[in-house]
Amino acid sequence: MPRLALYAGSFDPITNGHADLIRRSLSFVDQIVVAVATNVAKQPLFTTAERTAMIHAALEHDPRVEVREFDGLLVDFAKAAGIRMIIRGLRAVSDFEYEYQMALMNRHLAPELETVFMVPSLDTTYISSSLVREIAKFGGDVTGLVHADTAAALRKKFAR
Ligand code: COA
Repeated sequence: MPRLALYAGSFDPITNGHADLIRRSLSFVDQIVVAVATNVAKQPLFTTAERTAMIHAALEHDPRVEVREFDGLLVDFAKAAGIRMIIRGLRAVSDFEYEYQMALMNRHLAPELETVFMVPSLDTTYISSSLVREIAKFGGDVTGLVHADTAAALRKKFAR
């Protein structure tokens, strides 16, 4: 049986921090499903299709990475996909409280699911999608924070 994991988020856009976690996860799972949330409270800059394309490009079209959209509860998506491992990243102590609560709530909803917390590489711990969007919006350089294709997509989006 292949080992599967689920990594969910809004990925608006995917950053080098997300890509680092996905690559690290692929050292102990065979395949990772990247679930792009379409119903988060945040107003996204990129469409789901754009976010999906950027994830594929950022992971160099790795066949072990499957990108899917979801718009309900994460646990329902995981169950339907036959996945029992949820990957989450802990960038700083400030992430912990929210992540801990979410992991316990997901366990309450689906006890068979396990949340695995990963430590991202030190040089990506300060990255977030909203900071990347803000830098790009004001014409700043996002090199080193996102994949070159994502940087180009941000330039195009804010050139309008
Ligand atoms: N590197 C860089 N940035 C990272 C990161 C990493 N390793 N890990 C997280 N981030 C960033 C994200 O880009 C995001 O940045 P932003 O707020 O600037 O956009 C921020 O940290 C928060 O990330 P995350 O907690 O993953 O939020 P999200 O909005 O991307 O995704 C869902 C949250 C979709 C996973 C969650 O809301 C969910 O599961 N929703 C489904 C509904 C559900 O089941 N609800 C019940 C939950 S108990």
